[in-house]
Amino acid sequence: MTPTTDSAAARARRIVALNTAYFQAKALQSAVELGLFELLADRSADVGQIRAELGVQHRLFKDFLDALTGLGLLDEQDGRYQAAPLAREFLLPGSPTYLGGTARQHARLHYHAWAQLTDALRDGKAKSAVAAQGQLAYPTQYEDLDRARQIMLHMDAHNGFTADELARAIDWSQYTSFVDVGGGRGNVASRIAAAHPHLRGAVFDLPALRPLFDELVAEAGTADRVAFHGGDFFATDLPEADVVIFGHVLPDWPVADRRELLRRAHKAVRPGGLVVLYDAMIDPDERDPEVLLQRINHTMIRDEAGAYSLQQARDYLVEAGFTVDRIAASDTITRDHFAIGVKSA
Ligand SMILES: C[S@@+](CC[C@H](N)C(=O)[O-])C[C@H]1O[C@@H](n2cnc3c(N)ncnc32)[C@H](O)[C@@H]1O
Repeated sequence: MTPTTDSAAARARRIVALNTAYFQAKALQSAVELGLFELLADRSADVGQIRAELGVQHRLFKDFLDALTGLGLLDEQDGRYQAAPLAREFLLPGSPTYLGGTARQHARLHYHAWAQLTDALRDGKAKSAVAAQGQLAYPTQYEDLDRARQIMLHMDAHNGFTADELARAIDWSQYTSFVDVGGGRGNVASRIAAAHPHLRGAVFDLPALRPLFDELVAEAGTADRVAFHGGDFFATDLPEADVVIFGHVLPDWPVADRRELLRRAHKAVRPGGLVVLYDAMIDPDERDPEVLLQRINHTMIRDEAGAYSLQQARDYLVEAGFTVDRIAASDTITRDHFAIGVKSA
């Protein structure tokens, strides 16, 4: 064993840093909730101005700003603060890579679920308000359109990177149409369509999301090439297409339902076409703690939820009648894998 030269205090600080890592998470989430980065996007301000404009009272608010500066989210010069480039890239609403929606969702939901991790490890049950609603969770959450919009911002923070990878990973010149099943408000579909102007795309998702889809495609300029089909994917036939995509959908459902969805996909894919799954699949060789904890995160929110392995992805595709084309890792936030199956011509 290599002898360590760290002092006992330095070694102890590594444990303390782990123990208090949530301080940093909450500092980020509160800055987003307060609207700090919007305030400092295009101008600098001193602590007094920021306090007054955000209406905050905490006596150590300057320490809060300095901590965010140390974390690389603000820049400070002569006592004036402004959003750092990293915050401008990812934490300003309207940015195509906006991550503030997922910060808010973690503050609202995930943080509270993780407070009960020990219980979840003991009893194996999810610990969120969403878990109690079971399979009615999505329609129930969409009853309030603003809440649905927040949830979409959270999903889109993750799927935007995946969409861009997917736009590159497939030779789209061979296909003319695709449908993104459980495609939310159409962020992935719209990005793929924007990258490949010859494609016509569709989103199949619950009808409540149509107004949010209409907003997104109008803003992205893809409304003439991406359509919305509202329905329950267990009850309505999926629209036919050359490529059928399921992204971050299968882990929400028990295994029998996943198989049913893939059977339905096989019916919808035109001969010679593809089914594409993207998910944070279990790779038995994975050792990165961030990836491993992200996987557990899903199970903290939903009971049915379960990541599936690379081998299970292969099995789902083959059982539904597809030939496995490839299963490949991608450079996305949750290090998703793509699993691609071909329907014989
Ligand atoms: C975890 S989200 C994934 C969204 C998106 N594909 C992504 O990668 O971010 C699951 C999606 O499945 C949709 N969904 C859930 N139940 C559904 C159902 N019965 N029929 C159609 N869509 C459904 C949800 O509305 C949501 O958009």
